[in-house]
Amino acid sequence: MTALTPEELLTTTRAVRKRLDLQKPVEIELVRKCIEIAQQAPSASNRQNWHFLVITDQVKKNSLSDLFRKGWQSYIDSPTSVAKTISSDDPKKSESQRKIYESAKYLVDNLRKVPVFVIPCIEGRTDGSNVPVVVQSAIWGSIAPAVWNFMLAARLYGLGTTWTSFHLLFEREAAKLLNIPYEKVMQVALLPVAYYKGTSFKPAPRDTIEKILHTNSW
Ligand SMILES: Cc1cc2nc3c(=O)[nH]c(=O)nc-3n(C[C@H](O)[C@H](O)[C@H](O)COP(=O)(O)O)c2cc1C
Repeated sequence: MTALTPEELLTTTRAVRKRLDLQKPVEIELVRKCIEIAQQAPSASNRQNWHFLVITDQVKKNSLSDLFRKGWQSYIDSPTSVAKTISSDDPKKSESQRKIYESAKYLVDNLRKVPVFVIPCIEGRTDGSNVPVVVQSAIWGSIAPAVWNFMLAARLYGLGTTWTSFHLLFEREAAKLLNIPYEKVMQVALLPVAYYKGTSFKPAPRDTIEKILHTNSW
């Protein structure tokens, strides 16, 4: 594998689903290395109050995959689902939404075969009533950079991942399965981890910067 430049790493780390190699085992040592890199991320007051659950047990992966499928079904039935935007007026947008739908469905159908799941967690919860934005920001802001560091490190070592959240619709059930103290610790994602097939990841089409950049005033 040729070494990636830092810019290539930052612009070609994609959501990998169909190109996950479901046959090739993943060494746990490599996953540990990615978690060590995740630990270099910033956290509010340097609390480092993150946790990473690494799941290789097939029975647990099956149960999580069932919760994931139930979450997908609820999402697909919801008005904001990608399935509802496939027929937008913009053909380009429609096409990209269709691809995401197909790829996400593939992951739902094959999740249990992915060698390793990683569930990043953070101490604290934001789903109670009246959590001030500053506290929400400290909690989510203390885990999102670590998760992204993990995903970048994985890409560097030839592993594909996708940030997924469908199983969170059944977070309590997943917490019970994995002995996570639900009242004190929030799961934030489920990252399927497998070697990726091929190396030709490209920067993704994104909105123009004019749409999102505001200088001095909104
Ligand atoms: C907070 C968050 C939640 C996501 N949840 C899911 C999910 O449940 N299932 C899935 O297949 N992809 C999920 N994704 C992946 C996005 O669909 C993906 O990042 C997006 O389509 C852009 O694709 P790219 O990363 O390849 O550029 C999620 C991404 C984020 C950041």
